[in-house]
Amino acid sequence: MPKRKKISLIGAGNIGGELAMELARRELGDVVLLDIPDKAGVAKGKALDIMQTCALEGYDANVLGTSDYGDTAGSDVVIVTAGVPRKPGMSRDDLLSINLKIIRNVAENLKKSAPNALVIVISNPLDAMVYEMKKVTGFSRNKVIGMAGALDSARFQCFIAEAVGCSVKDVNAMVLGGHGDTMVAVLSYTTVKGVPVTQLLPKDKLDAMVKRTAGGGGEIVTLMGTSAFYAPASGAISMAESYLKAQRRTIACAAFLEGEYGYKDLYMGVPVVIGAEGVEKIVEIKLSAEEKTQLDASAKAVRELIDAAAKL
Ligand code: NAI
Ligand code: 2OP
Repeated sequence: MPKRKKISLIGAGNIGGELAMELARRELGDVVLLDIPDKAGVAKGKALDIMQTCALEGYDANVLGTSDYGDTAGSDVVIVTAGVPRKPGMSRDDLLSINLKIIRNVAENLKKSAPNALVIVISNPLDAMVYEMKKVTGFSRNKVIGMAGALDSARFQCFIAEAVGCSVKDVNAMVLGGHGDTMVAVLSYTTVKGVPVTQLLPKDKLDAMVKRTAGGGGEIVTLMGTSAFYAPASGAISMAESYLKAQRRTIACAAFLEGEYGYKDLYMGVPVVIGAEGVEKIVEIKLSAEEKTQLDASAKAVRELIDAAAKL
């Protein structure tokens, strides 16, 4: 009998819990939900709660709560949310020193326990954390990616659908660059059923939505006192699913750049084809001069963050 896929989640907090529930609900594989020993009870409790939901709703998936990395052995996919989320007034970058130590510890463990997995990092500040994950594990660039562009693009899509008054299913948007204030909503590739959004909405409205998208995480932190978790989980699941099912979807993800778009030794949001090999292709789209200038500014901000991390 073929074995089910195994998906390990490092961090059993808000996003980890939502990921576990959704992965089980979609029967994408068996799930291991890992947290630090102090939070092992939370991981185990969430796992049991989800298993009982599966019994109620009829989904075949085992969910195991643990604090032992041995349980992640043989993982096909690992999704990392370990760390601290933003509190009101904190920027993603404020999290750097706290979460860097955590990611280094997680990466050291995964290097031994899950050397063949596709690793999707969500912890913030995203671009620096995923860079560190690759650096410490030494895994290849096609197996370590960061989730942010899927979320930022979804936020932009949502605002566009609302403003145009159309189905969100017909909106195609792409938000690239670092997962921070400098992210770049690429208007030249943003369409509603193929119609450029610039033909449908006036510039001032679009500018306001671009700004709202860049502050989209902060908007939710201000409302809830912690960061978003449903859409971030959904973004990572779309990436994991494309890998596990060899779908070759093009998704905006933080990928390690080796000259693409003119940047090297940097993780940043770019369109990525995710298939059975992980990152199968980084798609290099033509950008307008203004978009390229914005992307350069974003790359500079990410570089500063990575340099700051290297000193910690
Ligand atoms: P949370 O606080 O609910 O959960 C984080 C979990 O990580 C906690 O249960 C904590 O005990 C655990 N943890 C801490 N150190 C650990 C370690 N060494 N090993 C394993 N687990 C450890 O936070 P939430 O809301 O789930 O967010 C997680 C991270 O994701 C945050 O850094 C947040 O800023 C980030 N985030 C990133 C987004 C993105 O687009 N990339 C979007 C939303 C949040
Ligand atoms: C978000 O974009 C805070 O990065 C987090 O929701």
